[in-house]
Amino acid sequence: MHILHVVGARPNFMKAAPVLAALAGYKGVRQTLIHTGQHYDANMSDIFFQQLGMPAPDMDLGVGSGSHARQTSEIITRFEPVVTDRKPGLVLVYGDVNSTMAVAIVCSKLLVPVGHVEAGLRSRDRSMPEEINRLITDQLSDLLFTPSADGDENLLKEGIDPGKIHRVGNVMIDTLVRLLPRAASHLPVGLPEQYVLVTLHRPSNVDDLPWLRSLLTGLAELSRELAVTIVFPLHPRTRQRLSGLDLPALNGNHFHLIDPQPYLSFLALQQAAALVITDSGGVQEETSFLGVPCLTVRENTERPITVSQGTNRLIGRDLGCLRTEVRRMRDAKRKQTLPIPLWDGHAAERIARVVTDGF
Ligand code: UD1
Repeated sequence: MHILHVVGARPNFMKAAPVLAALAGYKGVRQTLIHTGQHYDANMSDIFFQQLGMPAPDMDLGVGSGSHARQTSEIITRFEPVVTDRKPGLVLVYGDVNSTMAVAIVCSKLLVPVGHVEAGLRSRDRSMPEEINRLITDQLSDLLFTPSADGDENLLKEGIDPGKIHRVGNVMIDTLVRLLPRAASHLPVGLPEQYVLVTLHRPSNVDDLPWLRSLLTGLAELSRELAVTIVFPLHPRTRQRLSGLDLPALNGNHFHLIDPQPYLSFLALQQAAALVITDSGGVQEETSFLGVPCLTVRENTERPITVSQGTNRLIGRDLGCLRTEVRRMRDAKRKQTLPIPLWDGHAAERIARVVTDGF
């Protein structure tokens, strides 16, 4: 059986790595890895392949950046001949990025079965490009691998055939479990013992410049008042937006603006943080697993289990709530959380079993 995996953007790599490894153990399975090139900077892509121990992609479609229509249509155009040439028996796609949806569209038109890893998540916010990608990918997929029970419920409500849904758990946590023992030695040097880790890259936060200015000014004030350092790895989109904002407050001693971090350093940064402030989906999951308090600068989340069973709290755009929560979390004892079912380091093995059973 020929299985073709497609990755494109940073969060895909952590999800595909364990599935590639789990399927490598099966006789009769041939695997091909295609990178769409949605993320192309060395520190957004290559370093992840190295640290995750992934094979180099068999092909890079080199689509690069662009508007949603342009990026999506380039992936569709460049990926179609890959499918017609290589004739895979199954294509696996990951997460909710533009590459995921574009590939699912190509496969469904060519009648090639698609498996979606991380199916069923819904924020119910259609202003998020990822929500559109999730809805379309799930409708077109033949195998839907969900990380938690809410994913199954969402899919059933949308009329998906229950026979296609397989609750396997969280593949991103597979990678975390495997690499956590190596992370601590990758903690960037020169940081104080107590710091708050911040990541922001969603258009709803970083493309709205007046809001981005208020948020960062609020964070700078808080860091001064509480004498706590803020460590902020900058996604390329965020770096671009910040270059247009004149914010002298960010240059103080309390703000460490750093480059996007490799997987192991970022994991170490999360584990050692007093608190994480983010708008990333993956970080909400990773902090919940690690038991590190997380404040999410969004009105909603497609990962509600991180709020109900993890350490996550949604603060939307409420800067007053941000201040209160940062103070509270800094002073409170860490909340003990129970493990989330199936977030156990073995999700990819469960996917491999479904796939090789001939679904
Ligand atoms: C994408 C995903 C988002 C995911 C995020 C992780 C979609 C719709 N969004 O958002 O779900 O959380 O990846 O990072 O697919 N850029 C570079 N170098 C790169 C990649 C991007 O400089 O290697 C810059 C470009 O200016 C580009 C911008 O970042 O225009 C945005 O990149 P893009 O891939 O369009 O979306 P992300 O914001 O990264």
